[in-house]
Amino acid sequence: MNIAEYLERKRVDVDRFLDLVAPPSVTAPTTLHESMRYSLLAGGKRIRPILTIAAAEALGSTAPGLMPVACSLELIHTYSLIHDDLPSMDNDDFRRGKPTNHKVYGDAMAILAGDALLTMAFDLISRPDLMKGCDPVRQVRLVQELAFGSGNSGMVGGQVFDIQAERKDIDLTTLQTIHKHKTGMLIRAAVRMGAVAAGATDRQLDDLTGYAEDIGLAFQIADDVLNVTGTREELGKNPNTDAERGKKTYPTFYGVDGAKQLAEDCVTRAITRLVSLGPPADPLREIARYITSRKN
Ligand code: IPE
Ligand code: IPE
Ligand code: MG
Ligand code: MG
Repeated sequence: MNIAEYLERKRVDVDRFLDLVAPPSVTAPTTLHESMRYSLLAGGKRIRPILTIAAAEALGSTAPGLMPVACSLELIHTYSLIHDDLPSMDNDDFRRGKPTNHKVYGDAMAILAGDALLTMAFDLISRPDLMKGCDPVRQVRLVQELAFGSGNSGMVGGQVFDIQAERKDIDLTTLQTIHKHKTGMLIRAAVRMGAVAAGATDRQLDDLTGYAEDIGLAFQIADDVLNVTGTREELGKNPNTDAERGKKTYPTFYGVDGAKQLAEDCVTRAITRLVSLGPPADPLREIARYITSRKN
C-alpha cells in the first residue's frame, strides 16, 4: 500500500467533515467561531482521527458514527495546541504555518476557543443525528475514553508534568512520563476509540492499546527530534523552542541519532503488537513507520 496516498485521502475526508461541523463564522459569537475555525481548519496532519479510522478498519468495520468519533480527537488536539502556545505555556507565535491563535485573537479569545473546541468534541460524539446506529453502551465507552485520554490522567496531566519540568534537571523516567501523557494518551485514546467503535474483543483492544502506547512515545520523540532538526518552513512552527525554554528532551539525553533510534525501536515494537490482525492492519503498520520518517 502507498501510505502517502492513504494519509492524503483520509486527511481530505477529515478536513471536509470538520469544515461541515465547525460553527460558521457568521453565526454569533462570530469572533469565537472565527477563532475556532482559524486553528481547526489551518491544516495539520490529522493523524489522530486517521488512527481512529485505521484502527476500526483494521477490525474490518466501518462503525456507525466513526467520522464524528475520529474528529472529536482532532477538536481536543487543536484545543490543546491553542492552549499549549499561549504566553503562559510555551509562548509560541507560529503554528500550522500561521500566527498562533492568541497572536491573532488575543489570549482571552484563544482560551475560550480552546474551551469551546474541547466541549464541542463531546457534543460531536453525543449528537443523535451524527451517531445514529451506534450502540449506546459503546457510545458511553467512547465518551469515557475521550475524557480519560484528554484530562488530568491524560493529556492535561502530561502538560502539567511538562511545565513543572521546565529548567529542571529531570531524569529519563520523568521525561518518559511527560511524553506518555502529554502526547501518548490522546494517541492511545484515538486508537482505542476506533477499536471500541468497531466492537473489538478484549484481546484486540489490548493489542491495539500496546501499539498505540508505542507509537505515542515514538511520535513525541520524533517531535523532539524535529524541534532540533526541522526548519520553520517544514514544520509550520518554530524550531529550537525546546532548548530556548530549557526543556530536556530525548535529543538532550541521547543526541539526535540516539533519539531517532529509540523512536525506531518503539515503532518496531508497535508493529509486532499487530501480528494477530493480518492485512487489514497494514495502514496501522505504515502509519507507525511514517511517524519516524515524517518531516513535519
Ligand atoms: C503536535 O502535534 C503536538 C504534539 C502533540 C507533538 P502534531 O504533530 O500532530 O500537529 P498537527 O496536528 O499536525 O499540527
Ligand atoms: C505538545 O507538546 C503537547 C500538547 C499540545 C498536548 P509540545 O509543546 O512539545 O508540542 P509542539 O512542539 O508545541 O507542537
Ligand atoms: Mg508544550
Ligand atoms: Mg509547544
